Amino acid sequence: MTSVHPSCRLLLLYRNTRYVKISTWRAYCFILTTMLFGRLSACSNSKWCSHIPTAELSSVMTRVRAKGKKSKPPNVFCNGGGGSSTTSPKKCLLLNDNIHKRYFSVHGSTGGKSLGTIEQKYLNDEKISMITAYDYTSAKMCDDAGFDILLVGDSLGMVQLGYDGTEKVTMSEMLHHCKAVSRTSKNAFLIGDMPFGSYLTIENSLKNACRFIKESGMHAVKLEGGKRVVDKISAIVNAGILVQGHIGLTPQTANALGGYKVQGRTVDGAIALYEDALALQNAGCFSIVLECVPEKVAMEITNALDIPTIGIGAGRHTSGQVQVFHDVTGLYDRLKPKFSKRYTNAADIMSEALNSYREETEMGKFPSDEHVFKIKRANFQEFREAVGISSYQELHYQLIQEQLVASELEKLNA
Ligand code: KIV
Repeated sequence: MTSVHPSCRLLLLYRNTRYVKISTWRAYCFILTTMLFGRLSACSNSKWCSHIPTAELSSVMTRVRAKGKKSKPPNVFCNGGGGSSTTSPKKCLLLNDNIHKRYFSVHGSTGGKSLGTIEQKYLNDEKISMITAYDYTSAKMCDDAGFDILLVGDSLGMVQLGYDGTEKVTMSEMLHHCKAVSRTSKNAFLIGDMPFGSYLTIENSLKNACRFIKESGMHAVKLEGGKRVVDKISAIVNAGILVQGHIGLTPQTANALGGYKVQGRTVDGAIALYEDALALQNAGCFSIVLECVPEKVAMEITNALDIPTIGIGAGRHTSGQVQVFHDVTGLYDRLKPKFSKRYTNAADIMSEALNSYREETEMGKFPSDEHVFKIKRANFQEFREAVGISSYQELHYQLIQEQLVASELEKLNA
């Protein structure tokens, strides 16, 4: 170690901490480049380069890391056949290269966000924004807000359909909502959540994943599970469909996990998650959702992968975040997960509006003149004669008119 340049030691230290992954080769490149610009020459007095601010150093490290990523083929286009990364080297298939081209040229050219947009943000170390949407209203609002990804999550079972979990959601319910979102969204990249039971065998995984793309206009599918589902993911990816993985707390199988609990808190649990993430990457996932995972475990997984992680309850170091629309807007009252942030209380605002409407209706205050449609006096007269409205009805009508005039006058005087 004594023969190593002090600045290099700093880099090796960084490397060993694994907080920033950098190979020795890249470290030497970094030193050479920096020396060329004369930054390290003043360092030879072995003061550990204290004049290089940490922020600057870490931004250089980030760029080195991003460059390293850029030079690799994006993993989504690679398929290791479902084996572990150590036993099965990644192999780029022409088929998957074609998916790349298709997404850049087709979805990208419509002006909407493509896989390329997401990949670029990841490589630039920009955070990826994802939110759930289920219908015209939520899709329109989220699309206009500029989110990168809209997920038609099976959480719709709880927040839209009133189930007490997600496992009861069916394919036809998912497709129904996906169609509404794809009809509405013009910008975001769209992912449809494959419901529980729709990917039990390779055959039904393929059939159902295809339905999300063909029938409901999604750009990708998401499915829950680690190693146990890699054979299905590989099959779907090889069929030309983009897949997002989902590990950690997987709500569809929450009962088997012992309830809605944080995952990966024990050593074994964290190792299992780490291995699941690598297996999903190796199977061809373009991204992985990490749900309810300790922040530090999520960070290590994110650093170990060459594809973006999207966190929900996984802390600050994932490549992006996803939240449920109803949690962010304060529209769901049955539970409020610790990891969600309520940016407004839309339920309160909406309840106030609903109460006002009911009260005004019951008091005869709504509708008022501005909400009613008119008919020409002559047409009205003719219509009444045609249907033979009696003088009693006429009197009744006059009374109503008088009451209306009186209430309008009352309003004016108030
Ligand atoms: O269904 C859903 O909304 C999800 C997100 C919470 C990731 O899977």
